[in-house]
Amino acid sequence: MTSGDIARPRFARMYVRGAAGAEERGATEHRRRLLAGLRGRVVEVGAGHGLNFPHYPPDVSEVVAVEPEPTLREHATAAARSARVPVRVLAGVADELPLEDASVDAAVASLVLCSVPDQGRALAELRRVLKPDGELRFYEHVVPRCQPKRILIQAIDRSGVWPAIAGGCHPARDTTEAIMQAGFDVEEMERFGFAAQRFEPQIPHILGRARPA
Ligand SMILES: C[S@@+](CC[C@H](N)C(=O)[O-])C[C@H]1O[C@@H](n2cnc3c(N)ncnc32)[C@H](O)[C@@H]1O
Repeated sequence: MTSGDIARPRFARMYVRGAAGAEERGATEHRRRLLAGLRGRVVEVGAGHGLNFPHYPPDVSEVVAVEPEPTLREHATAAARSARVPVRVLAGVADELPLEDASVDAAVASLVLCSVPDQGRALAELRRVLKPDGELRFYEHVVPRCQPKRILIQAIDRSGVWPAIAGGCHPARDTTEAIMQAGFDVEEMERFGFAAQRFEPQIPHILGRARPA
């Protein structure tokens, strides 16, 4: 273990095992759209086992992939070797990024703002490391707007059972609002239902880009 580690080996194994199905169901295409057109130096927070790495376009000069979970980080380090752009995998947390102020052209948050302990703090960190003309790319699941799904998801989140199984994931977060509250202008955003696994209900996801206001 190193500083910046959050060890959740059971979740890590489950996430790696379940990923292939989610990718086939559409996540691969979401990742491709998330990263299309990026260039320069990029930070990806909570990079997991590196499922985004194959989709970084060739104009990206370096990806700094920060991942606190040691098992996922080991997989990510292996995935980085076959990426077509340079990817450096580091231990660390979104809440305290190991990067200088205004040092990246883009920041990527992919299915991670549900799991950070404090969204405001993580987004403030992303804003800090972004250059003033940089952009935030996000792909996240968010709380449903309509009943009865909204109240059900809020109850599941509050119960603590889902966060305990799913690596600290809070499904009832309004991440669009958090991004705006953190001082970003959302320039483009799609909202769509997606079920990552065959027997899961569809839940709303957002995919888009934002810039420091
Ligand atoms: C659902 S997984 C998503 C992984 C990857 N981003 C993807 O798109 O497949 C959530 C990720 O958030 C990471 N995570 C949890 N808490 C974090 C924190 N405080 N800072 C950064 N990453 C965190 C987990 O270790 C895990 O890799």
